[in-house]
Amino acid sequence: MIHPILRMGDPRLLLRAEDITEFDAPELHQLVADMVDTMRAAGGVGLAAPQIGVPLRLVIFGFDHSERYPEAPPIPFTVLINPELEPLDGMLALGWEGCLSVPGMRGEVPRWERLRYRGYDIHGQRIEREVEGFHARVVQHECDHLDGVLYPMRIGDLSRFGFTDELFPELAGETTA
Ligand code: NI
Repeated sequence: MIHPILRMGDPRLLLRAEDITEFDAPELHQLVADMVDTMRAAGGVGLAAPQIGVPLRLVIFGFDHSERYPEAPPIPFTVLINPELEPLDGMLALGWEGCLSVPGMRGEVPRWERLRYRGYDIHGQRIEREVEGFHARVVQHECDHLDGVLYPMRIGDLSRFGFTDELFPELAGETTA
């Protein structure tokens, strides 16, 4: 089922979400299915449970090809629960981000270029990956939602924040963000 996505200004986007303690539960499967439906309907590359008003530490991300980020390399579809992030060398990189909770806008955000992430899948199996580039960026963006952080809070140079169709006229055909 497609859920409405909360938008910046909704106080629920600013809360710290709670750990998930029961894996493989029917409610968890339903939540993930709803998040997938919602993310795909919105054309997003990731979604965090708090964005549909569920204060749990669960994010999904991944795509083969994104209309929103046409240059981005594919990321395998992933359900990541109770994630922990660890930078590998502390190097930061700037890159453009959008967010389904901040529709129609983009901003340039510093993120760790390389990181290790750990967490669990929907069955409670451990996930551990070392990633870089856009994959690393998406994970950091989604996991920030679990701590009540939206990407505009991380922008260093606010002159690099604006409306997508002004910044990137070539993406003007997109309707979702
Ligand atoms: Ni977001």
